[in-house]
Amino acid sequence: PRHFALIPAAGIGARMGAEFPKQYMPLAGKPMLMHVLDTFAATAAIAHTFVVISADDSYIGELMTAAPQLQGRVTLLYCGGASRHESVLNGLHAMRDQVGDDDWVLVHDAARPGLTSGLIEHLIEALRDDAVGGLLALPVVDTLKRCDQNQRVAETVPRTALWAAQTPQMFRYGLLQTGLTRAESVTDEASAIEMLGLQPRLVEGSPRNFKVTLPHDVALAEIFLKDYS
Ligand code: C5P
Repeated sequence: PRHFALIPAAGIGARMGAEFPKQYMPLAGKPMLMHVLDTFAATAAIAHTFVVISADDSYIGELMTAAPQLQGRVTLLYCGGASRHESVLNGLHAMRDQVGDDDWVLVHDAARPGLTSGLIEHLIEALRDDAVGGLLALPVVDTLKRCDQNQRVAETVPRTALWAAQTPQMFRYGLLQTGLTRAESVTDEASAIEMLGLQPRLVEGSPRNFKVTLPHDVALAEIFLKDYS
């Protein structure tokens, strides 16, 4: 089976408070999304990369023209949905003629520019013979509290055995399509697979692969990106 990347990049990034979608925010001299596309395009194990873009996106065309290294390696799909879940489902639908049911799809957030080829290869290697698939994730370091309606602690959740999900999340095309079609509303692909009664495998990721969400995340992302050689 081959390995394909699918990048949902059709969000507006409301929590960032910027004037334009956060996937285009410049980080270490390059728009966030372009870091992700360059990483996938430079990874030999990835056959091709598909990017889900909003139908009214006015940024990506110019960026692609200025990126000859992505020619033939990346396809833009102008089929963004109202949620990440919907964008991924639309993307799977749009790429169906080029992918087989048994091929692997690595779904990765445009908002995680710290991903490296090494992490992609680590995930692919760990799941090579896996019957279900899985995701990069990190053991939780904070002590977690569940709160009541008055924002008082109802319970301390033991953090042993708790992991924070990252992306890429890697599943076979057919299984992913089935899971996401059946799920009502999920915030990641693994949840949809879990709803089918299956147990995705957790593969240790990296702190540098965190999701850029709030304004102060920008400085941290730049530290990781400049550090990478
Ligand atoms: O907003 P959040 O950081 O959770 O978004 C995660 C990823 O999903 C981002 O890459 C974003 O562009 C994408 N997304 C999307 N379509 C939406 C909402 C988010 O492709 N409607």
